[in-house]
Amino acid sequence: MFVLGLQGSPRTEGNTTVLLSTFLTEAERLGASTRHLDVARKNISPCQECSTCEKNGFCPIDDDMQQIYPLLRQADIIVMATPIFFYGPTAQMKALIDRSQALWARRYVHKLVDPGRKWRRGFLLSLGATKGKNLFEGVSLTAKYFFDAVGASFDGSLTYRRIEGPGEIAKHPTALSDAKEKARSLVTPFLNRKKILFVCTKNACRSQMASAFARYHAGDRIEVESAGSRPAEEINPLMEEVMSEKGIDMAFRKPRSIEEAASSGKPDLIISMGCEEACPLFPGTRNQEWPVPDPAGKPIEVMRKIREEVEERVRRLIE
Ligand SMILES: Cc1cc2nc3c(=O)[nH]c(=O)nc-3n(C[C@H](O)[C@H](O)[C@H](O)COP(=O)(O)O)c2cc1C
Repeated sequence: MFVLGLQGSPRTEGNTTVLLSTFLTEAERLGASTRHLDVARKNISPCQECSTCEKNGFCPIDDDMQQIYPLLRQADIIVMATPIFFYGPTAQMKALIDRSQALWARRYVHKLVDPGRKWRRGFLLSLGATKGKNLFEGVSLTAKYFFDAVGASFDGSLTYRRIEGPGEIAKHPTALSDAKEKARSLVTPFLNRKKILFVCTKNACRSQMASAFARYHAGDRIEVESAGSRPAEEINPLMEEVMSEKGIDMAFRKPRSIEEAASSGKPDLIISMGCEEACPLFPGTRNQEWPVPDPAGKPIEVMRKIREEVEERVRRLIE
């Protein structure tokens, strides 16, 4: 499982960093893989309101946000961590939030559902210097709508007042233990999932569809990976098209090798669809072969037929 932490403070050793690191270190200790993304050190331009994403579902601004969209899609848990600047998140965090409009457009204009959407969780960590009663109202509302745009259910927040000088959060009587406890309660249900690895040759069609259906129908019970024995450069556009006919969004996916998939741990079950050679990386793991033909290079009707077959097989597997 994967936890993405978005750190919005421009201070490198600031309070927000300490709080988020505590959360992520505990998540990792439990077995999650994590990423601490220093948003303030990324090149993320503000949204230009050009409406391109409403037309074609993608943001045309070529900057670091293009690498962040796939991370937002892969994450099981997204933690947005930001100090309060003028009753809201920092400008750096706000730029990232505004650019998630592209994901909002994919969902609400293009009516495409990200397969992880039902299960992904979002959590807010925030702190500010003053003790104002409404200090976190602005950022909480922003977080709620950000998490909706990126396809995560908002699971609440930990917020701390009267934290100002760098490092002050470490002196707070409960903040760091609260963060650890929250990490445990959010991460544990994900760690109990069975892990299935779908493998085909290129990780461009069959294993991509199977992993998306499995995540879509049972992402709460199954952790899904997919890989190819000889991964292609890109996923197959015809596959993307037939999945979008079902309302399932395959954007931001990249074919991966079996070695890359192996880095996130040993699966409980491998399902191979013409992977050619056996998967030598996981000796002793149960392996099922699905005789699903490769639809690459065939007409769209064949791709649709394979999509139906893969979904049916995934449904039976889940049952
Ligand atoms: C530009 C700016 C605006 C701020 N606005 C607020 C504010 O509206 N309310 C507040 O309580 N603290 C405000 N602060 C204080 C920070 O939230 C506080 O120092 C926090 O601990 C910084 O966290 P960090 O160490 O993670 O950067 C502001 C600080 C800066 C630099």
